[in-house]
Amino acid sequence: MTFNSFNNPGFVKVLKFLQTHNTEYLSGQDLSDVLRISRVAIWKHIKKIQELGYTVESKQKLGYKLTENSDSLFPWEITSDLKTKFIGQKAYYFDTISSTQDQALKMANESENNGSVIIAEIQTGGKGRDGRKWISPKGGISFSIILHPKFDISITTLFPIASSLALSKAIENTFKITPELKWPNDLTIKGNKISGILVDVVLESNKIESLILGVGINFNVDVKAIKKILKETPNFYGVSSLSEYNKKIKPIELVQNFFVELEKIYELLNKKQTKNIISEWTKRSSTIGKNVEVNTSDGKIKGKAVKIDEDGALIISNKNKTDKVIAGDIIHLSK
Ligand code: BTN
Repeated sequence: MTFNSFNNPGFVKVLKFLQTHNTEYLSGQDLSDVLRISRVAIWKHIKKIQELGYTVESKQKLGYKLTENSDSLFPWEITSDLKTKFIGQKAYYFDTISSTQDQALKMANESENNGSVIIAEIQTGGKGRDGRKWISPKGGISFSIILHPKFDISITTLFPIASSLALSKAIENTFKITPELKWPNDLTIKGNKISGILVDVVLESNKIESLILGVGINFNVDVKAIKKILKETPNFYGVSSLSEYNKKIKPIELVQNFFVELEKIYELLNKKQTKNIISEWTKRSSTIGKNVEVNTSDGKIKGKAVKIDEDGALIISNKNKTDKVIAGDIIHLSK
């Protein structure tokens, strides 16, 4: 099942009307008159609304009343009252897909897809960093955003760091807890991973054509089941689900909030205003100040994580030696 945010105007009109008038019963005739849609079409839309997991009560002589929304991140829910200029203003929803990242890559070169979001309920081939898997069961949040940035390649390495900061802020705004940022771009709570970020860059003669930002959030997932699958894999250090911290927050609140925070940070990057991003990331970081070990493609580096530099690389010092690490998996050795 796939939907987008712009191809179902009649259906969305009926749904929106039911959502904004959810304290009263609305007759099929009234809906038809107000929305200028035939009664047959109204009936068909209401049937589909119910099939998609919304609860619509119907009473003879009174009509219809929407009593519960769906928890699915349908594209019309994402775009509804979304306070951004372009991020998330176009959304594509898949109930099951191999990877939203692959799908976004396929759609990336269309200019009208700048800011578009590809979101899936379940990914069967979710991708993590460095060729790892990302387990994406129902209850998790998995999406990819297509971006056509104005900034140049030198800023690109900071983009994943900046995105993890935006997500940390969005979780703080909605859940009222502040996740730590584990370099390069994991979000953790009490040391357990709640989100991972993956960025694919499409280059065209040394210019950034597109950035694909993939975000996986353990929103309401079975932590034990994920641990069972991942515990033998390298770089696994623990997993946690956001729902453990507050069961009342709806996934849509977090996703919309993230798009707003991301757009703010993206505009700063476009203006090359990176200082605040680095200092805010550092404040939330669980890595800086710790003794760490990093597995890089050139071997292991041990030392104290001192800071991230202007392009997001981690600076590690050991005695009189300083290393700059651009990518790699990190283990925190000291608390
Ligand atoms: C990591 O921590 O290794 C990064 C995980 C990124 C997962 C997201 S889920 C949405 C998007 N689609 C994918 O296949 N991967 C990213």
